[in-house]
This record gives sequence, C-alpha cells and structure tokens, in this order.
Amino acid sequence: MNLATVHVALGARAYDVRIGPGLLARAGSEIAPLLTRPRVFVVTEDRVAALHLDALRAGLDSAGIGIEVLVLPPGEATKGWPQFTRTVEWLLDRKTERKDVVVAFGGGVIGDLVGFAAAVLRRGVRFVQIPTSLLAQVDSSVGGKTGINSVAGKNLIGAFHQPARVLADIAVLGTLTPRDFRAGYGEVQKYGLLGDAGFFGWLEANGPAMAAGDVDLRLEAVRRSVQMKADIVVRDETEQGDRALLNLGHTFCHALEAATGYSDRLLHGEGVAIGCVLAFELSCRLGLVSQEEPSRVRAHLDAMRMKKDLADIAGDLPDAEALLDLMGQDKKVVDGHLRFILARQIGEAFVTADVPRDLVRDVLHEALAARG
Ligand code: GLY
Repeated sequence: MNLATVHVALGARAYDVRIGPGLLARAGSEIAPLLTRPRVFVVTEDRVAALHLDALRAGLDSAGIGIEVLVLPPGEATKGWPQFTRTVEWLLDRKTERKDVVVAFGGGVIGDLVGFAAAVLRRGVRFVQIPTSLLAQVDSSVGGKTGINSVAGKNLIGAFHQPARVLADIAVLGTLTPRDFRAGYGEVQKYGLLGDAGFFGWLEANGPAMAAGDVDLRLEAVRRSVQMKADIVVRDETEQGDRALLNLGHTFCHALEAATGYSDRLLHGEGVAIGCVLAFELSCRLGLVSQEEPSRVRAHLDAMRMKKDLADIAGDLPDAEALLDLMGQDKKVVDGHLRFILARQIGEAFVTADVPRDLVRDVLHEALAARG
C-alpha cells in the first residue's frame, strides 16, 4: 500500500502522522501498539458515522480492538460547552482510564473538541486523530491545538495537547463534496505561499488533477503540507514565534467569517484563500512584493475554481472599518496591535505587528469596492 509517514519530533510528545489510502482498514494495527487494553473510545459526528464508522469498526475489530462510540451532531455549533460537557461526561461514564486512548474521528470540529476533552479528562489522556476532511488532514489534526468556541469568538477556550498518532486516510477524501474539498485546499495552498515556492509551483501544475480525484497527487499534497506543518510545530510548539506563519490569511479570514455569521456563505478554508490574496495585496501595498504576486495567487485559485475575492462572497458585507474592528477579536492581537503575516515573495512569509491600520483599511476598502 502507498503509505507515507511524517514524524513530529516533539521529544516525549513525538508522534507519527500516517498518510495514505486504506488507513481505516488498518486502524487496528496502527493503534494497537498504543493500547494497554483492547478497547478505544471513538467520538464522531452523524455524517462521518454514516459514511465511515463501519469501516473503522472493521479495521479495529481485525486487531481485536472493541469500540464504544459517541455520535455528536455535525457542524460548527457542536464546538461549544454543551457538546464538550456531554463528551467529557460520556467518557467518564464509560470509565475511561488514564492509559486509555480516545479517538477523534471526523473533521476539524470533532478533532478540536475531542482533543480538548482528552486534554482535560483525568488531567490528560492520550488521543488519536483520524481526520476525515482535507482541512483536518493538512492542518487541524496535526500540532496539538485543541479547543472550543466561546460566544466571544472562535477557538478562545482550549489547550495544547498533542495526539499520540494521526491516521489520515486519503481514500476518505473521496466522499467530500467538491466545495468541502476545495475549502480544505485553501489551507494546502497556504503552505506553498508561506514557506515553499516549489510546492506552490507543484500545486499550480497538479492542483486541478488533484481536485478531480487523483489519489497519488492527494497523498503527495497532504504529505508535503503535513511535513511543513510538522517542521514549524517542532520549531515553535506553543506559538511564541514561527508557528504564527501558519496563520497566513487568517486575520482577514476571521473577520470575514464573523461578518458572514460563521455560516455557509463562507467556509473557513474559503476565507483562508481570500485572506491569503488580501495578505499579498497588503504586502504589495507596503512595497514588499510586486503586483504580479497577488495576481498569481488569484490565478491559481481561479484555476482551482475557488473563491478568491470579496466579490465571491454572496450577500452584504460590512464596511472596511467594521471589518477592521472584527479583526480586533483575533487571538493574534498583542498589546492591542494586530499581527499580520505578510510576504516578501511567494514562499517567504513573515510575522509583523508593524502595519498601519490605515493601509489595512485601504486594502479592505478597495476589495469591497471591487464588488461593484
Ligand atoms: N492552524 C494553525 C496552527 O495549528 O498553528
């Protein structure tokens, strides 16, 4: 079987990310070495359970591992206190022990919520991420950020808690809607833009065939993305510096997500893609890159048939000043200054708090004006 491994070298918290088609069927042999008794606690959501739970159950069963399953409702609304409390109490009811393994089986919502539950349950139990969306495979399942949303904003309650293993089954991506796959791709192209011009060129050449379903290309894109993320997380696990590079496009994205009510109007990865274009526009405005760079980012998103501009978001948007205010809730605010990830060229991003508010407003104003 075509299987890749990315090692996340975090000393006592080191783990492997296994990537390839057919990993659900192999889940038993992948997870068995972590267990002290042949039983795991799987938390998933309705849609993933309907599509893939039987395959996971069979994979675990083939290694003699029994499972208990909690199925939560799908969607971002799950990622709050009520379902979090439900999950923790369910795990305690099942008498989960310190040495047991909890399995997060789903997209980013499930991975973040279950990871946080594992972080606080008995002051920390191990957990395995089995991410089923492209976004979760290339970003949220790796690196140990876990948490839930507050009414004050997304991901404001959480903990760093690294998984014991990640199993990214590439075949599972075949059941995503084209829109969900492309939204996840917003995070994939981000890796090329922030740190690897060669990878961005590879995506320009191979992205459309990958979106059309080529499994080998999907494996390679996930592997390279995860490798880049692992390298950054190993340098800066708790985001004191370099890890913030992974937030390229996210300051704009969070404001747009808030402005669209975290609804279907804009999926997170779509906001990341638009945010990357705006970050390159801002870099251009600051004289760091030429106009060709944001144009090249746009052209690639176009080739991928993805949203790339504010004009691609249906319905009303607030004005530039209101969008700027929405950015103020971002976790990346330090001493009241917004931190931005800007670029010196495609493949070379850096973090700065030194961006005049007026310039950001101008970029947003222009982007809004282009909506006509
Ligand atoms: N998703 C950004 C990070 O893990 O740091």
